[in-house]
Amino acid sequence: MEKYLKVENSSKLYGSASLVGAKNAVLVIMASTILTEGKSTLSNVPHSDDVVHMIQLLRDLGAGVNFDKDNHTIEIDTTSLKKFQVKREVMKKMRASILVMGPLLSRFGKADIALPGGCVIGARPINYHLYNLRKLGAMITIEGEYLFAHAPKLRPQRLVLEYPSVGATENCLMAALSIKGTTTIINASLEPEVLDLIDVLRKMGASISMEPPATLVIEGGKVLKPINHTVMSDRLEAGSLLLAAAVTGGKIDLPQANSHHLDVFLMKLEEMGHDVVRGADGIGVSLKATLSPKAVSFKTAPYPGFPTDLQAPMMVAQCLASGRAVINETVFENRLQHVHELQKMGAQIKVDGNRAIITGVEELYGAPVAASDIRGGCALLLAGLAAKGITTISGIHHLSRGYESIQRKLQGLGASIEYIDEAPLLRNDQSQKRTQQWY
Ligand code: UD1
Repeated sequence: MEKYLKVENSSKLYGSASLVGAKNAVLVIMASTILTEGKSTLSNVPHSDDVVHMIQLLRDLGAGVNFDKDNHTIEIDTTSLKKFQVKREVMKKMRASILVMGPLLSRFGKADIALPGGCVIGARPINYHLYNLRKLGAMITIEGEYLFAHAPKLRPQRLVLEYPSVGATENCLMAALSIKGTTTIINASLEPEVLDLIDVLRKMGASISMEPPATLVIEGGKVLKPINHTVMSDRLEAGSLLLAAAVTGGKIDLPQANSHHLDVFLMKLEEMGHDVVRGADGIGVSLKATLSPKAVSFKTAPYPGFPTDLQAPMMVAQCLASGRAVINETVFENRLQHVHELQKMGAQIKVDGNRAIITGVEELYGAPVAASDIRGGCALLLAGLAAKGITTISGIHHLSRGYESIQRKLQGLGASIEYIDEAPLLRNDQSQKRTQQWY
C-alpha cells in the first residue's frame, strides 16, 4: 500500500545539501548505451524509480546491469543486448522509455515498442519523433498501443523540429549516428541534459557539432564504443532545494549546483528579494531568503528560459510573496494541476488557460493534498513546509520517480517530514475549515 508524506511547518531550513545526477540526463544516457557493444560505467546515478524502470527495460532487452546504489554507480553491459522489443508494462511506467527508439533503430534497424506512459502534464504527443524518424527512412506503423519501426536502410537528412523538443532531439540524434553522411537537426533542443548526452556520444566516438542557431550536425556511420561518464548534477533538484530555503525563510548552500544552468531562475529569485551567491566559474549556489519576498511574474520556455520543471515549485514561492504574479506555462498545456491542491491550502490562484494569476497571502494552511506529477508533488512538499499545521500528501510515488530522496535532504536541513501509512485526521482548525471548502 502506498504511503503518505506528513509534512509539518518547518521554518528557516538551514544548511548545505549535495545533489544527485540529473534524472533527465541519466535516463537518456542509459538508453544511449544501446548504441555500443560492451560495458559502460556511469557515476553520479540517482536511485530514483525511473532509473530502476530504465534498468528493467535494458535488462529485458538483454543487457547486464549492475547498480551500486550506495556509490551511485551503474555498469551497463550491452554485449548480449539482442532484443529490439520493449514490453508494454515497462514502457507504460515512464515517458522516457520512448528514448530507446532512436538507439534501437541505430543498432538493429528495428524498434517495436508500446506507446509510453509518464506524468500527466499534457497530451505529450510523439509526432516530432515520428515525422523525423520517418524522414530518415524508418517505416513506422502504430497498431493500438504498439508502435513498430523498421528501417533496413536509413539515409542522412536535414531534419527540422517545429519546437525544440528535448526527447525528439535526443531520439533523432541517436538514430542519425548509424547513418553514413551528414544529418542536421534544425531547431534542436540544447538543454544542459541534451548537452550531457552529446558529451557521452562524443566519448563513444560520435562526431557531433553545434552551429548557430540551434543546429546539430552529425557525421554518422562510426562504430561507437562503451564509455565512463559522470552524470551532470540535477539543476531541477538544485532549484527545488533553493526554493525550500526561500519559502521557509532559510539559508542553503549547494556546493555542486551549476549556476549557469539556472540563470533565469536565479535572476527571478533575486527579483523576489532573495540573496543569491554564485560560486566561481558557475559552480556552487547559495541562497539566503528575504523575509519580505516580492511576487514576480515569469513564463516557462525552452532552455535557457525559465524551466517548466521549476514552474510548480516556484509557484509556491509566489503564493507567499507580497503582490501579484502571473505565471505563463508555455511548454506543456496541462501543467497547472498543482493549483487546485495549493488552493486547498489557502493559496489565492486564478487560472486562465495556461496562465496562473496569484495574489500572495500571509500564510498557507496544512491540508490533505494529492500529487499528480513529479514537480507538482515537489511543490506540495514545499508548500507543506511553509504552511501552518500539518499537510499530508498522497500520490508520492510521483516524487520518488524523479527525486532520489529529496525528503531526506530536506530533513537534513531541519524539515519535519515523515512517511505515514494513513492520512491522519486534521487537528488544525483553520486548515480543516479551508480544506472542507474544497471537498
Ligand atoms: C523532457 C523532460 C521533462 C521536461 C521537458 C521540457 C525528460 C525525461 N523529460 O520531456 O522533464 O519537462 O523535457 O523541458 O527529459 N511535443 C510535441 N510533439 C512531440 C514532442 C513534444 O508536440 O513529438 C510537445 C510536448 O507536448 C510539449 C513540448 O513539445 O508541449 C515539449 O516537450 P519535450 O521537450 O519533448 O519534453 P519531453 O522530452 O517529453
